[in-house]
Amino acid sequence: MTTGRLRVLVAEDNPEILTLLGELLEIERCEVALCSDGASALTRITQEPFDLILSDISMPGVSGLEILDRSSAMTSGIPVVLISGQVDLDTALFALRHGAFDCLLKPFRLDDIRDLVRRVQGLHGLAENGAGERVAKQVGGNGHRPQEILIRKSRALQVIARSGKVFGETHDLGLLMGAILEMAMRGVGAEQGALLIASETKDRLRVASIRGFHDTVRSGDEVGSANELWRLAGLPSEVTPSVIPLTVKGRQIGGMALANRHSEGSFSMADHEMLDIVAQQASIALENLSLYATVESTVFEGMRALAAMLDAKDPYTEGHSLRVAWFAVQICQKMELGNEVEDLVRYAGAMHDIGKIGIPDAILRKEGRLTPEEYERMKEHPVVGWKILAPFSFLQEEAIAVRHHHEWMNGGGYPDGLKGEEAPLPARILSVADAYDAMTTARPYRMPRSHEATIEELRRYAGPQFDPELVDAFASLSPRDLRAPDTGPNHT
Ligand SMILES: [Fe+2]
Ligand SMILES: [Fe+2]
Repeated sequence: MTTGRLRVLVAEDNPEILTLLGELLEIERCEVALCSDGASALTRITQEPFDLILSDISMPGVSGLEILDRSSAMTSGIPVVLISGQVDLDTALFALRHGAFDCLLKPFRLDDIRDLVRRVQGLHGLAENGAGERVAKQVGGNGHRPQEILIRKSRALQVIARSGKVFGETHDLGLLMGAILEMAMRGVGAEQGALLIASETKDRLRVASIRGFHDTVRSGDEVGSANELWRLAGLPSEVTPSVIPLTVKGRQIGGMALANRHSEGSFSMADHEMLDIVAQQASIALENLSLYATVESTVFEGMRALAAMLDAKDPYTEGHSLRVAWFAVQICQKMELGNEVEDLVRYAGAMHDIGKIGIPDAILRKEGRLTPEEYERMKEHPVVGWKILAPFSFLQEEAIAVRHHHEWMNGGGYPDGLKGEEAPLPARILSVADAYDAMTTARPYRMPRSHEATIEELRRYAGPQFDPELVDAFASLSPRDLRAPDTGPNHT
């Protein structure tokens, strides 16, 4: 760098970006060589000395990664900066790990280029006009050395890359909120953070997730503003907190409030850029989650409606599925099995006979006994039901419970002849609930059994057919507990 001017080679296949980069670098008084493809860039590198190589990552033919690879073999320590057209984080991380000096994300501004030029000048130990001290201070904009900047950037990229993955995999709103806050705090090293969601009336902010407040403010509390939050937390006045808005479908739903009480002033520009990206990813995840919840409830409702329609086809079974769901939930509550199992049997119960959809009405509504062939046909319904539900990722466990609701403890049931606990617990619960409802409901050929007589019958088959523990729990429920709300006329 004899003239004190950086000699920069730029490789970029988009002519407009190439020209723009050339102009920006010339404003920064660099000597610029422009190449519109990777192959000619490699040729120029072998012919002339450069202080900095700027290359697009994805170009037809020779890519930016190849230039990085080959130029580091040909030149010694010339910084290579890769340009990425999008937040392609895997590539960016790969590039940093393989020795790229930095990654520039499009669109870039003059400030990005100026910052880069200063850092490279600092790296070469030379500064324009001999103002070494000034340049050293400007390196990185925050007084950080290039290695520190790289480490910070790499950490930020890792946080961003990880947050995209974590957010995408989280289907629980509470967990998602916690993950968003944790990622944002980790990314900028914040000690205190809260995720605030606007209340329905929009005049208050509910604390959806919070960290580092030592109980001065808790999750679920409401505050009038982010300032009130910091007042309650006793944040020293010299610390400037940040609030990053969170939006869903273009509507601001709240924000993330972050502070670091041990560092005076505010977060850096780079921190804010990273937080913006985390907030964007969080917004997408929140949007997807609401979409997912909508799809999920639409499918649930559709399936329930289908099952109810099926029940309604036969006046003797009207309301059967919902009653089975209700009894199954009562068993869960009695045994304190927890919300998860309870929800599972509620949905699986409502859909347990959905496979009967494929059975002809003549068999389904037959008033006399079924012939052996008809009975075999009837026995297909758990598998047909499983086939209907299994394609939905969020109905996997329901599908399995539906498949096995006619298994027997002694292996004599169908469709798979599973023994004992080989049939999952929700299926065993449905089996007891199903039998109870069948027996207490009137049939064309018999009167409904009483509650007591039915319990006696369940006890008789506890062991070979039903799980005895579940029958015990069921038997301890009073007929009043078992009065299912509004499920049809035939319940006794
Ligand atoms: Fe069934
Ligand atoms: Fe049933």
